[in-house]
Amino acid sequence: HRHLTGIAGLQPHEILFLLDEAEGWIEANRTRAKGDGRLAGITQINAFFENSTRTLLSFEIAGKRLGADVVNMHAAQSSVKKGETLIDTAVTLNAMRADVIVIRHMSSGAVRLIAEKVDCPVLNAGDGRHEHPTQALLDALTIRRRRGAVEGQRVVICGDVLHSRVARSNILALTALAAEVRVCAPSTLMPPAIEEFGVTAFTDFDAALEGADVVMMLRVQNERMSGGFIPSSREYHLRYGLTAERLARAKADALVMHPGPMNRGVEITSEVADHPTRSAITEQVEMGVAVRMACLDVLTRKSRGVEGWA
Ligand code: CP
Repeated sequence: HRHLTGIAGLQPHEILFLLDEAEGWIEANRTRAKGDGRLAGITQINAFFENSTRTLLSFEIAGKRLGADVVNMHAAQSSVKKGETLIDTAVTLNAMRADVIVIRHMSSGAVRLIAEKVDCPVLNAGDGRHEHPTQALLDALTIRRRRGAVEGQRVVICGDVLHSRVARSNILALTALAAEVRVCAPSTLMPPAIEEFGVTAFTDFDAALEGADVVMMLRVQNERMSGGFIPSSREYHLRYGLTAERLARAKADALVMHPGPMNRGVEITSEVADHPTRSAITEQVEMGVAVRMACLDVLTRKSRGVEGWA
């Protein structure tokens, strides 16, 4: 089976194919129309070992709109709490004849490990600091719809780049689609040798924002910092918070994005986050359902006897 463990490994034409497929679901979603039942008879297990609002619910809604039988496993209520290993959990889900498994896990690489142990497609819903591929796809779709294209767009990704799977997947997807990607973070939250990913690194947010088409803000992930640098919220906001004043350095029609959950008043002010024309934050959530419908459909095509990837 082919899995979706990350953007790494996808060709640009495959990313575009998934975006095109997602585009086809947007209108149906707006009217809450059921799909054509193409996933009827498919059992989709969402195994979430880490908290989620957007990703879990949108994978559930996406599966249900396509007619799948959707089952959610929350780690907090599962035998994981009794010490069951990740591999044993995966083998158990497999024995129940899941047809597709969606996994979120706090450890980088956990999703790939599970993918090797089960005989159905596995979709990564975020693993540690590694990747969050459907987030990057929904972000690329949002940019393409709002800016006309991804190619040539100057996208500034600002925040805790070091701990962010969203940043990693977005860097891979946006550079693959020929955007100009700038990353901005305090030096303590910037991964080493980030330029090797084809991006330009900044520690000065004001400089990074010059001429930006898209400003993507990230949350400081205190839960992934073990005793290291935890910036004070006030200090962080002064240097890296997106305010209306700061946004004025970007293009006049620059788009503001955030994958959520937001820490209002820290990385972004409410004035910017709730801006009626500039903010695409709720649109990102909307695109998430369409992207997850596309991914569930495409990844299960082979097992349904339908022609798969383009
Ligand atoms: N953006 C995102 O992954 O949000 P959740 O953690 O709520 O799923």
